[in-house]
Amino acid sequence: MSALPLRAYAPSDDAPRPFLKWAGGKAKLVPEILARFPRRFGTYHEPFLGGGAVFFALGPRRAVLSDLNAELIATYSAIRDDVEAVIRALAVHAVSEEHFYSVRAASVAGLGNTAVAARTIFLNRTCFNGLYRVNSKGQFNVPFGRYANPKICNADNLRAVSRALQGVPIRHESVFTITPRVAAGDLVYFDPPYDPVSATSSFTAYAKTAFGKDEQVALAALCRELSERGAHVLLSNSDTPFIRELYRDCEVDTVHCRRPINARADRRGPVTEVLVRLPAGPRG
Ligand SMILES: C[S@@+](CC[C@H](N)C(=O)[O-])C[C@H]1O[C@@H](n2cnc3c(N)ncnc32)[C@H](O)[C@@H]1O
Repeated sequence: MSALPLRAYAPSDDAPRPFLKWAGGKAKLVPEILARFPRRFGTYHEPFLGGGAVFFALGPRRAVLSDLNAELIATYSAIRDDVEAVIRALAVHAVSEEHFYSVRAASVAGLGNTAVAARTIFLNRTCFNGLYRVNSKGQFNVPFGRYANPKICNADNLRAVSRALQGVPIRHESVFTITPRVAAGDLVYFDPPYDPVSATSSFTAYAKTAFGKDEQVALAALCRELSERGAHVLLSNSDTPFIRELYRDCEVDTVHCRRPINARADRRGPVTEVLVRLPAGPRG
């Protein structure tokens, strides 16, 4: 497949922006990340999609997006396939503590993608800190947020998001199954749940399955395999001795970032993270 030139969106009112607030969201690091992408590549893959900040800023001509969080994937799919239905479904959600807890308690089993999307966006906009966190049963468990006037539905942005998603496969799958669909010349951006910087700072509850040290080791092996097969690979992670050791033979840059999602305001300050680049092709 031939490589296509990069088409980054010019900043404008109708450029799509992330519609969910997501722990680990990359909005602040986007310029650093885009600066490390190759100018030409085949298909863009983002297998830890989350809030999708990099995808929306990049605007690739061909992309495959995926994540292990089923409700997140149902939400993106609904916006791609029928954004007007999602906008209508959001209109039934009124901002009140009582409504929040009844929506949170209701099962998502049996709901169609449109209802899941409206529920996910409503809870994300009204919950404490806009955090997505689930318990060991996979149930969303963040409390009500008490915002003065939260905007539940930004219809213009949802329509821009829907336009950006047209023709894009959006898959509910683990990162560890993407290999067969990545071709030489493709670009893969990995933004995994981060290696915790301390024993108490761990935030890996995006989905009911954890992402621990074994998964970080398996991910480093996957990065090497895809790069050897000719894909361009970029990965972000926390700046820990464990991550530096895992990628010791790669190009590792240190970047400074402010982490806004932390229950404790004193832990929202600047931290360093790493961007790891593995160029396409066999390494000498
Ligand atoms: C750091 S967040 C991604 C943040 C995203 N880049 C953004 O800008 O919002 C990590 C994501 O990985 C997903 N995830 C966790 N384990 C996974 C796995 N094994 N395979 C695929 N996705 C996984 C989580 O559901 C979460 O959405």
